Amino acid sequence: MNVSASPVFPASPASQADFEAAAYESGFANEFATEALPGALPAGQNSPQRPPFGLYAEQLSCTAFTAPRSHNRRSWLYRIRPAAVHGPFERIANGRIDCDFGLIAAPPDQLRWDPLPLPDAPADFIDGWVTMGGNGAPDQHNGCAIHCYAANRSMTDRFFYSADGELLIVPQQGRLHIATELGLLAVAPQEIAVIPRGVRFQVSLPDGAARGYLCENHGAPLRLPDLGPIGSNGLALPRDFLTPHARFERRSGAYQLVAKFCGNLWRAAIDHSPLDVVAWHGNCAPYKYDLRSFNAIGSISFDHPDPSIFLVLQSQSDTPGVDAIDFIIFPPRWLAAEHTFRPPWFHRNVASEFMGLVHGAYDAKAEGFLPGGASLHNCMSGHGPDAETFDKASHADTSTPQRVADTMAFMFETRSVIRPTRYALDAPHRQAAYAQCWEGLADHFDPDGKQA
Ligand SMILES: [Fe+2]
Repeated sequence: MNVSASPVFPASPASQADFEAAAYESGFANEFATEALPGALPAGQNSPQRPPFGLYAEQLSCTAFTAPRSHNRRSWLYRIRPAAVHGPFERIANGRIDCDFGLIAAPPDQLRWDPLPLPDAPADFIDGWVTMGGNGAPDQHNGCAIHCYAANRSMTDRFFYSADGELLIVPQQGRLHIATELGLLAVAPQEIAVIPRGVRFQVSLPDGAARGYLCENHGAPLRLPDLGPIGSNGLALPRDFLTPHARFERRSGAYQLVAKFCGNLWRAAIDHSPLDVVAWHGNCAPYKYDLRSFNAIGSISFDHPDPSIFLVLQSQSDTPGVDAIDFIIFPPRWLAAEHTFRPPWFHRNVASEFMGLVHGAYDAKAEGFLPGGASLHNCMSGHGPDAETFDKASHADTSTPQRVADTMAFMFETRSVIRPTRYALDAPHRQAAYAQCWEGLADHFDPDGKQA
């Protein structure tokens, strides 16, 4: 086990320069060990009678104690004060967070939205959450909540954690500087961040306004998929996942600890920064990943594979082969399949698909699907390329490879129906006429001619 030590002794909130200089460890869910003060990690045991430097030892479990070793995630934190030290919680307004997914009838329509408008009033990262839909229940640890966020100011005197799930953050506009209990993450559009369930953090906005997407995973922690016949390399490579070094701050003040618990927001007074972990070791930790490092694999003969070939991370369900959540991306790539309709085919799936566009254009939609926008195609709702894209691709020359450039779309694909919220259905930025994009798909059937 190699111990990484930070060369400085940070005792104040992280500056922009701290984030830009932040160092990371490489690897996915490795057994990391890191200390911001040399010697802060106990030697040879997790819970010594008196940990070094008067620190408290605290275990953070992200999976059941008895989970198989290959799935088990936990970390040991050595901190200035335990996480238990704060005032009583009181309910605060949920804003546009809405996790009662069963309360309204979910329509089988295809749904699409323009980008979530940036806020006019001051809104930090937590104020800016808007729940678009979800499934399962946070108190049952199944399903997920899907949110968009739009914020315009940094969190200063408050810290946040979600007990409801692991947070997969997909920035679309503006960088996020995320100070977590376990270290600093600087994340830009076309990168993602994952914050384990329960880890406390604070987000600052170095570029001002910020917008993006969130998948709050109630279930099993995200993991890299098995690769099967692909072999030992390909798709998201473990070395491209980056986990922060330990960094702590030691400051006192009249702060707030905001918790998301069973779908609601709660607030407690806390007189010190909870980002006071001086050292930690384990495999339950925040991480970031650059989507542009994804090793996309596709057909080099004809047709194209199912979109599972673009799977970055999965949250497995209790049914083998059926994931609760798949995080899939559509990155820049070559299309090489001959005599093939190259865009995504028309389809209806048992799974439900929430899509977003981080950058550029999506190759199945000629227009209307904008960076920052979103679509929802639920279980068995037919969808596919729009009429313009269909016509173009049906007559395209497929004798040469075609580069799909300047794009980064993604999908939160779930096993269960994604029930939209009332806000999502009534939102002014919902595209009421979305389904008309397929109206131009005419009847070309010619019983007298095999080929049109
Ligand atoms: Fe689809």
